[in-house]
Amino acid sequence: MEDGRAITAERISSRFKGNYQVSDGFIEVLLQLYQDASQFKVELFQPFGLEDIHAYLKASHAYYIGSCLPEIETLSQQLESELGRENPLSEKIHDFVKDYKAELYEHIEVEEQIILKFVQDILNGQYDKGNRDFFFNHFLHTHNDEIISHLDSLYQEIEEKDQNLKANPTLQGLFKALNSLRKDLEVHNLIEDEIFVLKTLDYVNSRYPEEA
Ligand SMILES: [Fe+2]
Ligand SMILES: [Fe+2]
Repeated sequence: MEDGRAITAERISSRFKGNYQVSDGFIEVLLQLYQDASQFKVELFQPFGLEDIHAYLKASHAYYIGSCLPEIETLSQQLESELGRENPLSEKIHDFVKDYKAELYEHIEVEEQIILKFVQDILNGQYDKGNRDFFFNHFLHTHNDEIISHLDSLYQEIEEKDQNLKANPTLQGLFKALNSLRKDLEVHNLIEDEIFVLKTLDYVNSRYPEEA
């Protein structure tokens, strides 16, 4: 089930309404990657500064926590009340959503407190070498895809065991929301791992070369 380009553009742009804004050019790159993450390359982000990447990450975290997860949770609760708790697939879906939410919350919390805080500080001219070492030691490639393969196997199990459940509109809405968040996170994680770390390193090295 593919979102149209206009719906996808709306999903991407709607998060940038608060304090954290990015240019139309940045949104265009996100849109391109959201449609096909295999087009990802470092050069796409060459025109953008550390401020842009930081703003994108902050706005996206707020969007995941404030919009995506509540939507997923509402659909999950709705499904549970439609099917009843005693349905074993309903219980599995409920547990999956609970774990997924907890893991994403915790991941974002660490990034906000350590990673984005460090970068916010250096953007404000406050540099701490101790925090820098912590940043680079703790941030590299902390994303895992385990929970995502879980999502696929859960959907497969529903397909095999319960065609009625598969056709349920609430279930379909829930998986659409989960897949949409998954796509968003795929691009988000690439930007964190491949772009944000590099831009932060360049920023620190150009301003504090004696400390590098
Ligand atoms: Fe993040
Ligand atoms: Fe992350």
